[in-house]
Amino acid sequence: MSAAVNIGIIGGGLMGREVASALARWFVLEGFPVQARLTAVCDLKENQREWFRQIPTVSLLTADYHELLASPEVDVVYVAVPHNLHETIYLDVLKAGKDLLAEKPFGIDLTAARNIAEAARASGRFVRCSSEFPFLPGAQRAVHVASQTNLGRLLEIRSGFHHSSDLDPTKPANWKRQVKTCGAIGVMGDLGMHAVHVPFRLGWNPKRVYAQLQKIYAERPDGKGGMAPCDTWDNALLHTDVEIDGREVPVRFEMKRLAPGETNTWYIEILGTDGGVKFSTKEPKTLWTFQRGKEQIWQRTDLGFHGPFPTITGGIFEAGFPDCFLQMWAAYLAERAGGLAGKFGCVTPDEAVRSHELFDAALRSHSSRAAVEL
Ligand SMILES: NC(=O)c1ccc[n+]([C@@H]2O[C@H](COP(=O)([O-])OP(=O)(O)OC[C@H]3O[C@@H](n4cnc5c(N)ncnc54)[C@H](O)[C@@H]3O)[C@@H](O)[C@H]2O)c1
Repeated sequence: MSAAVNIGIIGGGLMGREVASALARWFVLEGFPVQARLTAVCDLKENQREWFRQIPTVSLLTADYHELLASPEVDVVYVAVPHNLHETIYLDVLKAGKDLLAEKPFGIDLTAARNIAEAARASGRFVRCSSEFPFLPGAQRAVHVASQTNLGRLLEIRSGFHHSSDLDPTKPANWKRQVKTCGAIGVMGDLGMHAVHVPFRLGWNPKRVYAQLQKIYAERPDGKGGMAPCDTWDNALLHTDVEIDGREVPVRFEMKRLAPGETNTWYIEILGTDGGVKFSTKEPKTLWTFQRGKEQIWQRTDLGFHGPFPTITGGIFEAGFPDCFLQMWAAYLAERAGGLAGKFGCVTPDEAVRSHELFDAALRSHSSRAAVEL
């Protein structure tokens, strides 16, 4: 067993705590060659920082991320802050000589993403971006079916991520609803990386995009008795063409904050003339596979608990969000140690930049109401 990798978190909000949870049960990974422990946390807000005091390995709590970056007790930094801060903080992490697990969307816009990717390359540090759903058993099986079985001629692919809490107009505004902090790409920056990760990894890169973007509620309660403007895109449908095996195949990416009844639904559907596969977190135990024989059959498989990295959890049990988050961290640290061994890896800086190229083209497509070449 190698020495433990020391992890620091900048941004101890929703996602910072999720990382703390994953690292706190690292011992469930079986035979994993790398130990990991959370040593330092930075957040501007005292109440956010104080929550991490209950974790015995955390020896540094600070409001100044430069202090965290100066600590010799930090090897890898996970950054989960509003999108307008990504570029500055990611570049400072690299300047400090630390490795980085960045949060999506990897910069507020295309220029920021390119700057971060270039700095990552020049620094030689190990940099990846977060996107955890592909590490669920059903998503892994879909990747396997798509890459290892004969689906015939591909007909169409749909990959998406849907939320629904914004249907409630009384839900207060926050930084994710405003262009200055979330970015002009809006919901694409929020949910888009989750939709593109698997298709990009399968080599399905859009040649052109026609985008339909919607803003549904232009203002929301500001939490202080008034109203705050909400100027980001809420829902996005990106109709793209991808060349696969010499044919153009329609690939639709769907990102929605207002999808009735969908609390947090990640899904992928890949349909061919001879075979197909569908998986959605809506039915987390279920994998649907299609086979065309004498009869046409959609077959339902009840999935067990089989992530890419073995754990002590019994194979008949169900996997959920904390599990795929742990698996993603295992993939990050395995790849960092040179031990990914062909398993599915986290989003690369190159893939993150390509996602921004798609979202940037989508903005231009929507404003011109025309397809845009990539
Ligand atoms: N992978 C996922 O499934 C997923 C889900 C939600 C959000 N995210 C991403 O994670 C990032 C953070 O989102 P969140 O939902 O955790 O947000 P959040 O608002 O819950 O937390 C952000 C935290 O950053 C802190 N912060 C702000 N500026 C800071 C600074 N200069 N130094 C230190 N701390 C600072 C805030 O006080 C807050 O606690 C975003 O990039 C978002 O897109 C990813």
